[in-house]
Amino acid sequence: MSHDDFPTEKPAVVTCGLPYANGDLHIGHLRTYISGDAYARSLEKLGQETAFVSGSDMHGTPVAVNAEKEGVSPEEFALEHHEKYAETFPRFGVEFDNYGHTHDETNTELTQEFVRSWIDEGHVFEKEIQVAWDPEADTPLPDRFVEGTCPYCGAKARGDECDEGCQRHLEPGEIEDPVSTITGNPAEYRTREHEFLRLSDFQEYLEGFIDRLEGTSNAQNQPREWIEGELQDLCITRDMDWGIDYPGEGKEDLVLYVWVDAPIEYVASTKQYTERVGEDVFDWEAVWKDGAPEAGAEGETDDATWAEADTGEIVHVIGRDIIQHHTVFWPSMLRGAGYNEPRAVMASGFVNLDGDAFSTSRNRAVWADDYLDEGFHPDLVRYYLTTTGGFQQDVDFSWEKFQERVNGELVGTLGNFAYRSLLFAARNYGGAPDADTSAEVAERIEEAVSEFEAAVNDYSLKNAGDAAVALAGFGNEYIQRNEPWNLTDDDPERAEQVIYDCVQIAKAVAVLSAPILPDKAQRLWEQLGEEESVHDADLDACLESPPGDFGEPDELFEQIEDERVEELNEKLQERVEAATEAADEDDDSEETDTVSDIEPVSDDRISFEEFQDLDVRVGEIEVAEPIEGADDLARLEVDIGVETRQIVAGIKQLHDLDELPGTKVVVVANLEQAELFGVESNGMVLAAGEDADLLTTHGDSVPGTKVK
Ligand code: 2FM
Ligand code: ZN
Repeated sequence: MSHDDFPTEKPAVVTCGLPYANGDLHIGHLRTYISGDAYARSLEKLGQETAFVSGSDMHGTPVAVNAEKEGVSPEEFALEHHEKYAETFPRFGVEFDNYGHTHDETNTELTQEFVRSWIDEGHVFEKEIQVAWDPEADTPLPDRFVEGTCPYCGAKARGDECDEGCQRHLEPGEIEDPVSTITGNPAEYRTREHEFLRLSDFQEYLEGFIDRLEGTSNAQNQPREWIEGELQDLCITRDMDWGIDYPGEGKEDLVLYVWVDAPIEYVASTKQYTERVGEDVFDWEAVWKDGAPEAGAEGETDDATWAEADTGEIVHVIGRDIIQHHTVFWPSMLRGAGYNEPRAVMASGFVNLDGDAFSTSRNRAVWADDYLDEGFHPDLVRYYLTTTGGFQQDVDFSWEKFQERVNGELVGTLGNFAYRSLLFAARNYGGAPDADTSAEVAERIEEAVSEFEAAVNDYSLKNAGDAAVALAGFGNEYIQRNEPWNLTDDDPERAEQVIYDCVQIAKAVAVLSAPILPDKAQRLWEQLGEEESVHDADLDACLESPPGDFGEPDELFEQIEDERVEELNEKLQERVEAATEAADEDDDSEETDTVSDIEPVSDDRISFEEFQDLDVRVGEIEVAEPIEGADDLARLEVDIGVETRQIVAGIKQLHDLDELPGTKVVVVANLEQAELFGVESNGMVLAAGEDADLLTTHGDSVPGTKVK
């Protein structure tokens, strides 16, 4: 089934993945919220009725672990961060219609209502499972309270996610070699009874859903292997105090898994919006509930049934690490409670800093507050984050690249066009001269409007931004080609025509750039003498005549000078060095504490034959490069004599990758293939300890030599 193009007659909700209320925001985090905001504003430009909602994710171990470190209650800790987020987003032009949080009454009630529906519909069952337990602290270790090895790809994993490896969600009991993050001790497994949502009930439904889903291709394609394979049931309860109580009888000691109440906040937040503005302004049920084909009805997975269903348009904007939650768990949760399904999931790549992942612990980040304190306008980073590469691609941020885009496109193209046109118009005619838009310019504006509409329907913010800047580029070329300054005396009518055209182009540029540059577009709009908000103007306004009178404009953007970039880089480097030294000191003191903690040698002896099963070889690293978005992983090409192998190794932060080519290493050559962060790995490079001290040879062994 294909959905009707936007705008449709139905109301839409755009949501952003809920940030865990557990830390400071940096510009990597902001990508999702800025993109969600820009997309919601773009839909509105098309005339689509849209609500833009989100909220803070207050529960779960991501919050509990950090609150414990700070020695405060999870509630106090989460509320403090929630308030900070609610205040930070608007400073970046991110204007939610409602920003709630998962611990409030609306979400608590709605979440329990969802779970009761699943229980009533028979989708919940009880099962005894093994949960990780800290024997010394005598406490269960849900999710992030335990770390270990991912059973699917062998990467280091924490709790319920393999965030450095295959990105899979991990169920309780799945993590291998579990270690408690509370005491650092190996964890035990103990038997506990938990509640499960039977995802297999939704298998057939999900197969139809994924074919209907729009958005970015990673969200449309990645889940297929999960949906078409055997669906593992989802444990929806945890042994914790912090969270929403499980509403079933006799289970007072269990709270709901954070991934149950978190997405339900999308609905709760929309409901709060309706409660505030009234149903006649925005009806949350029209989007989330009305028109859903009855669960269990014949033909429910049929595209035609969904095509006829009069449901609202739900668009989720998320980071690519939570695709599984939004394309497998969440649609099942909605379906199980009789709610509507998402129309689209837009899953973005990550943001890196100078080629490497942001590291909050190493203070290697551009913090949201610092960015603004440096005096940069929020629209600049909005532009950078939404239009650098496609939505699915990782975006690399560096002050140099930021400078290049700002100076080139915003100052050089958009700002320059608007300033020179409006200045000429104001000085010579006191505003827009008396004329009509020429056919050539009207056609070019129509083309830009079509590009913008297509971009919104393709879920491409980059194309939407490009449509506006390219139109300004055309404006520059048009004014240059027509040289109105040479026409005012000899052909004043023609001069008026050219300048009127330029003012019309500037008006269209303001409308088209408003979703990405909300404040700068408003300023341009005001410079044009417009009185209402540019955010209330729809695409038709691009070709409506501008008001006649306006005064001399100010420049919209300022150049970023080279010295400024140097200064910012120095500051960043100093901060990283200070944080790294502090972390190293911590590591040293931990080392002295634990030097006697060398792991005991295993009592399980293996036979010589078993050892011989390992094919260990001398290798030589030929290529070593970081894997974008992965904190620790590097991609190596290693010559092992008979061939060159691609191997993924967790050494990125611990070695200078540029220095590795030419280094001899020891490789387990017959390890089974694995995929880490989407990169195939064919073997293992041996390394010692936490610092990944690479094993090497000390003679002349050539690559391929067997190690025995
Ligand atoms: O991964 C995260 O940061 C979660 N807090 C996202 C939740 S999104 C939504 F589904 F709840
Ligand atoms: Zn994994």
